[in-house]
Amino acid sequence: MRVLVIGSGGREHAICWKLMQDDPELELFCAPGNGGIGEIATLVPIPVTETQQLLSFALEHKIDMTIVGPELPLSLGIVDMFQDAGLPIFGPTRLAAEIETSKAFAKDFMVRHGIPTADYQVFSDAAAALEFVEASPIPIVVKADGLAAGKGVIVCHNRRQAEDAVKASFSIDTKVVIEEFLVGEELSLMAFIDGKTVVPMPAAKDHKRVYDNDKGPNTGGMGAYAPIPHMGEEVVQEALDTILVPAANALAAEGRSFTGVLYAGLMLTDNGLKVIEFNARFGDPEVQVVLPLLDSGLLAIITACVEQRLAAYAGIKWDQSSAVVVVLSSRGYPGKYQTGKLISGVVKASRSSEVRVFHAGTAYHGGRLITAGGRVLAVVGLGPDLKQAQMCAYRAVSEISFENMHFRRDIAAKALAKTVPNHISD
Ligand code: AMP
Ligand code: GLY
Repeated sequence: MRVLVIGSGGREHAICWKLMQDDPELELFCAPGNGGIGEIATLVPIPVTETQQLLSFALEHKIDMTIVGPELPLSLGIVDMFQDAGLPIFGPTRLAAEIETSKAFAKDFMVRHGIPTADYQVFSDAAAALEFVEASPIPIVVKADGLAAGKGVIVCHNRRQAEDAVKASFSIDTKVVIEEFLVGEELSLMAFIDGKTVVPMPAAKDHKRVYDNDKGPNTGGMGAYAPIPHMGEEVVQEALDTILVPAANALAAEGRSFTGVLYAGLMLTDNGLKVIEFNARFGDPEVQVVLPLLDSGLLAIITACVEQRLAAYAGIKWDQSSAVVVVLSSRGYPGKYQTGKLISGVVKASRSSEVRVFHAGTAYHGGRLITAGGRVLAVVGLGPDLKQAQMCAYRAVSEISFENMHFRRDIAAKALAKTVPNHISD
C-alpha cells in the first residue's frame, strides 16, 4: 500500500506514526512533512495549498490512499479534485468542509437542524454589528466568518473591546458572527464519519492559551489529554444524539455528505452540550492523545470510511489507558519567535515505551535537529490513569531542551484536582 499524508505538524506526525506502527511495510509519503516525519516517511516538498501538484504526485506515484491533515486544502477542494480523478482520499469535500470554513454557514446550519449552539447573529455591515454590540449583554464573542488560523475568535469582556473586535474582524473578513458567551466546561469530541455512520473517539481536552491557568493569548493548542475522566459515557452519548448524528444526517440531506473526521468543539453548559465550533478534520493536539489510544488499524478505519462501509466495520477498539500531551514551543509564540535553535534530548526522552515525541516545527540541518516553527515538539505520556500519564509526559519533557523553550506546566492539572482521591471516600 502507498499512502500520502498531507500536512506538516504534530497532527500529521501522529497520523504517520500510527500508520507505520500498524504496518511497518507501508510505503508512506508526507507532503511537506517535517524533521520527525522524515524519519518514518518519504518527504514530498509540495506545500499543502498546491492541490494540483499534490494530485499529479498521487497519480504519478499510484497512491492508494491520501489522508488530508489541515483544513486549508479541504477549503480549496482537494477532496473533490482527487475524487474526480478516481483517487481514494480521506476528508470532506469543499462543500461539506464549509461546516468549518464558514462560521456563518455552520451557525445557520445548526439552527436549521436544531443542533444546540450559542445564540448569534451574522453581519455583513460594520455599523449594524456595532449597534448590535451596544445593545447586547457582555461578555460577548466576535468571530470572523472564514478561516483565520486561530485568530478569528475574540471573547470580549467589555463594550470597548467588543467594538474593537468588530472593527478588527471586518478588516479581515466581509462577514462577522456575533454570539452569546457560553459558560461551562469545554471538550473536544471527534468522530469518524463515512457519510452516514458516526463512530466517536474518546473525548479530549485542549489547552488553548499559551500560559498556565489559561492565561495569555489563544494558540493552536499547548497541550491536551484524553479521555476526560470526569466526563463519562453519558456526555459522549448526548453529543452523539444531539449533535454529531444529527449533523451527519443533515449534511447528507443538504447534499454535503461528510466523509472524514468531524470535530465538535463543545461546551458543557447548565443547559446541556452546545457547539462552539465544528472542524472538518482531526484536531491538533487532540489527535496526538487520541491515536495512541486506538487499538485498531487506522488505515483500515479510514478505508472503511472512504468506501462507505463503516457500519459493517466492527474493528474500532480503544485502549483503556490515558494520554497527556505537552507542547514545547518557541518563546514568543503565538507572536514572533526565533527558529534554528539546536534541539537536544529527543532520543533520550523517547526511550520509554510509554512516551511518543511528535514533531511539529522541526527540521534537520546538517544532520542536527533544529527548531523550525512556533510549536516545536509535542511530548505524549501514556499511563493507566491520567495522573501517571501526566507524570510520564513531564518526565520526558525534562529530558528535552532548546534555547527559548516554553511549555505549560499545568496540562491536565485541573482534571486531576477534580478527582477525589480514593482514601477520602474510604
Ligand atoms: P475557536 O477558535 O472557535 O475554537 O474559539 C477559541 C476559543 O474561544 C474556544 O476554545 C472557547 O474557549 C472560546 N469561545 C469561542 N466561542 C465561545 C462562546 N460562544 N462562548 C464562550 N467561549 C467561546
Ligand atoms: N485544537 C483545536 C483545533 O485543532 O482546531
